[in-house]
This record gives sequence, C-alpha cells and structure tokens, in this order.
Amino acid sequence: MLTVSSIAGLRRIIAEYRKMGQSVGFVPTMGNLHAGHLMLVDKADSLSDRVIASIFVNPTQFGPNEDYEGYPRTEEEDAKKLETHAADVLFLPSVETMYSDVNSTTTVSVPYLSSTLCGESRPGHFDGVATIVTKLLNIVQPDIAVFGGKDYQQLVLIRQMVSELAIPTQIVACDTCREEDGLAMSSRNIYLSREHRRIAPGLYQELCRAVDMIRRRKAGFDEINLQTRANLEQQGFQVQYIEVRRQGDLRPPAAEDKLLIILGAVCLASTRLIDNIIFELD
Ligand code: PAJ
Repeated sequence: MLTVSSIAGLRRIIAEYRKMGQSVGFVPTMGNLHAGHLMLVDKADSLSDRVIASIFVNPTQFGPNEDYEGYPRTEEEDAKKLETHAADVLFLPSVETMYSDVNSTTTVSVPYLSSTLCGESRPGHFDGVATIVTKLLNIVQPDIAVFGGKDYQQLVLIRQMVSELAIPTQIVACDTCREEDGLAMSSRNIYLSREHRRIAPGLYQELCRAVDMIRRRKAGFDEINLQTRANLEQQGFQVQYIEVRRQGDLRPPAAEDKLLIILGAVCLASTRLIDNIIFELD
C-alpha cells in the first residue's frame, strides 16, 4: 500500500491506474479504523480494481465545543489495518493541504438535510461534511465511493449532493456494523466509561423495540417517539431526538409512506451516539 499526503502525488498514482484502464473505488474516513470502516474497504475492493482510502480529521465539521482536538488519531495502526484489507493507497493529507484558510473557504450546503435531525444540534456540521466530501471526490474522481448506513443522514445528504452537483461517482452504501451486544461501532465508543459502555446498547434495543411496535401497529409515530425517548431517559441517556422519517429524503412520513427509518441521537456524559434502523411497512 502506498501512503501519500499531497493532492498532486495522489493524482499521479490515480492517473497511472486510469492509463491501465482500471476502475477506482474510494472510502473516505476520519481514521481510528474499526471493523465498520474495513467493511467499506472490502466493499470497495469487491466493486473496483483499485481502492483508495483517506484519513482526514476534518476541522470544518466539528463545532466549537466538539472533540476536534481530542479526536482519536491512530494513523500507524490504521495503515496496518488498511494494508491487510486490500487498500492500494492511503491518502493522508494535512489540514493545510485540504484548506488554504480553514475559516474562510468555499462551502457546499445541502438544504433541509443539513439542518434537520443531527443538523439541529450540530449547526454547520453537515456543511463541513458536504464541503470535504465534494473536495475529496474532486481530488480522487472515483467510479464509486462507499459510505456507511450508520451515518444515515450523511449518506442521504451525500447522495443528494452528488446527484445535484452532477458529480460522476456512484455512491454505494453498507449496512451498520455492530458489536456483539448491538452497539453500532464508532470511533467515539472509546470515550465511554465502563458503566456507560454497559448502558450504550440500550439505544439499539429501544430502536428495535420501536420498529416492532410500529410493525404491529401498536401506536402512532408520535407516541412511539415519545415512548422510546422516555425509555431511554429512564436508562440514563440524554436524548437529542428520536424520529421516524422517510428513508429517501428524511422528511416526516405521510400515511401512505412504506419505506421508513427510525433514527436516534443520544448522549452518555459528553459522548454522543447515533443509530438507526430502516424498515418497510406492508
Ligand atoms: P468516519 O466517522 O470515520 O466514518 C467513515 C465512514 O465509515 C462513513 O461512511 C461512516 O458512515 C462509516 N462507518 C462508521 N461507523 C460505521 C459502522 N459501525 N458501520 C458501517 N459504517 C460505518 O463519516 C465520516 O468519517 C466523515 O464525516 C467523512 C465522511 C469521512 C467526511 O469527513
């Protein structure tokens, strides 16, 4: 595996692949890689000749009181993991390479999807994500790019952005990779205390319970949202939102909508966890 930190260097390598007629798959990450990230790399490997992974802790998607400085940076271990998962190139740019002025940069903003759900408690976050993903896709110009369904709002936002900006990359989604007890894998799980790690799988369990209730038509969406929120608060979570939405555009569902998703964001002390379950009504 080659590791490269300059845009020109990466472009030279990709130009060689293109000259040989090879297709390119891309997996953008912020590092501290776990099995969920590596599953995306395997997916990209199964769909393309060459796999580029990037690690860049993107400052513009962190709010002023969020964990940008403390975000786990484990590039050496990450590189070893990528190497055993058939990545051809690791792109590891500096902040200066990606932003000439991090406080004043051209910004991509996706209406509605950047301001609802996680966008409400994290203003500016999705503009940072949309901007860096646009930039990475412009640098790599991959045939496909793979994203995880765990960050479902991010996935839908990127799909819309790529479609509306006519970026010629196919967006591929992977299911959420979970620990054995159901907790969605996340680089932030290492922040959890022992007690909070014990409680954390409750988020997924409550979302499962809510989907089951909806399927059995036991209650309306508003009632389910409130009940789930109350159950989680009782277990010690601070709940930011629990919402049933439409899968395609994350708008509130109408009576005839069948393809739905329940999404939740909670905090345990200062650690924020998100999760979701997609489901179809018959
Ligand atoms: P990061 O949190 O490192 O995630 C990188 C990719 O891994 C994203 O597509 C995310 O959805 C996926 N992922 C994370 N945990 C997962 C899990 N448990 N199961 C499946 N996929 C999982 O998301 C970002 O970085 C950034 O916002 C980024 C897109 C790189 C832009 O900076």
